[in-house]
Amino acid sequence: MIAVAGQIAGAAYIVAALLFILSLAGLSKHETSRRGVTFGIIGMAIALIATVVLVAAGAWDTPSGALGLTLLVVAVLIGAAIGLWRARIVQMTGMPELIALLHSFVGLAAVLVGWNGALSDTGLTGALADIHHAEVFIGVFIGGVTFTGSIVAFLKLSARISSKPLMLPGKNALNLGALALFLVLTVWYVITPELWLLVAVTLLALALGWHLVASIGGGDMPVVVSMLNSYSGWAAAAAGFLLNNDLLIVTGALVGSSGAYLSYIMCKAMNRSFLSVIAGGFGIAAPRTDGDQAHGEHREIDAEAAADLLAGASTVVITPGYGMAVAQAQHGVADLVAKLRERGVDVRFGIHPVAGRLPGHMNVLLAEAKVPYDIVLEMDEINDDLSGVDVVLVIGANDTVNPAAAEDPSSPIAGMPVLRVWEADNVIVFKRSMASGYAGVPNPLFSRDNAQMLFGDAKEKVDEILFQLTRV
Ligand code: TAP
Repeated sequence: MIAVAGQIAGAAYIVAALLFILSLAGLSKHETSRRGVTFGIIGMAIALIATVVLVAAGAWDTPSGALGLTLLVVAVLIGAAIGLWRARIVQMTGMPELIALLHSFVGLAAVLVGWNGALSDTGLTGALADIHHAEVFIGVFIGGVTFTGSIVAFLKLSARISSKPLMLPGKNALNLGALALFLVLTVWYVITPELWLLVAVTLLALALGWHLVASIGGGDMPVVVSMLNSYSGWAAAAAGFLLNNDLLIVTGALVGSSGAYLSYIMCKAMNRSFLSVIAGGFGIAAPRTDGDQAHGEHREIDAEAAADLLAGASTVVITPGYGMAVAQAQHGVADLVAKLRERGVDVRFGIHPVAGRLPGHMNVLLAEAKVPYDIVLEMDEINDDLSGVDVVLVIGANDTVNPAAAEDPSSPIAGMPVLRVWEADNVIVFKRSMASGYAGVPNPLFSRDNAQMLFGDAKEKVDEILFQLTRV
């Protein structure tokens, strides 16, 4: 019975693994992303059913028969209900923090699986026992780092704690020391697997995960989220080794490597050093000033004057950011675009790769508001055109249009590519106050001669401009 169930589950796991690969391939392009998600759902359903079949057949050292099955089904139902509920109510702006929280569960699961592996009697001896002990130790370490790192990322992304980097004295030495200590403890544990060593590595990993992510500034958080995604994959793979579950190993490795590659691509897009970010902000200086107080004089504009400026323009570029998502201004923005285009104005969008709170955030919002796709351009496609533009509307964006990134080598976001909106003839910045953006860095754009601030909620201001345009 167990052998047959094992063979069926083995075949099902191969199918599920293939579906996960197809899912990742599908998710790499807009047009195929829905199909990618469907493949992922089917693969996960197959994996879950195969695992239930294995438990029912008593393949693992689980509570036997009906009790084991009942416990498993109840756990799956509770998890599925919470997952469905959260997925239905989450706002687009809340996705990164939800993802960070989900990564923390993977980390915690890897820690628990590791501890379970250490406490249960495997009957292994010699080299096999040594390998098992190394697997336990490494699994607990990666899981612990992922667990607290993801929780700190969740707290930062949901603004429950400050997004500013924690700058403990000697932070790089602390991180390197923790890694060196982990290596020493691993060797020690393989030689003498005493429980206190496992307690020590658990505490070490929890502290390191917390410190690594706490040391990262807001501007680098996108990379941290995809890096934690990668860690959670490796934690799952480590758990797979301990549970002797091939699918978990394959899936963990897929998530681990794709997350690492995504982090690398994002680091390149933001001109950050990959190694510096994964080493907890290694070599990154602390912000120098409080972001909200470092601006010079600024000029203000009202909706009426903004409408006049737009009515007289022949080229307009809109650069949206996180604030457009918060205000849910995308539908008004789409109406504004339609109205300006009716008047013969050439309107385009410039989208920064990390505008908003997750990659592709602005594209999804604009597509939802039915903005024609061909006028939505990537940063690299529009940047060289910005100097000839009559009016740029910066709608709820801040870090992604900050000239300090391009001009001030001592800025914490120095070197990060930004939309060079200040090169346009006129810039109107829609925001509610002079507060800094997510990275907590002052924005000198606001005091440039060609920039004017339109204070208020972005949706209300866009609607007011629309109303004023009917008058002009
Ligand atoms: P931010 O730099 O965060 O600036 C958003 C601006 O929107 C703020 O200055 C805020 O100013 C304004 N705002 C908020 N609510 C508003 C409302 N209702 N009406 C009008 N304005 C509003 O955004 P960004 O330029 O899109 O840059 C994204 C930042 O987030 C980057 O630092 C990026 O690294 C980080 N980040 C990105 C990601 C990804 S993957 N994209 C993930 C995590 C973090 P007021 O408060 O004064 O209104």
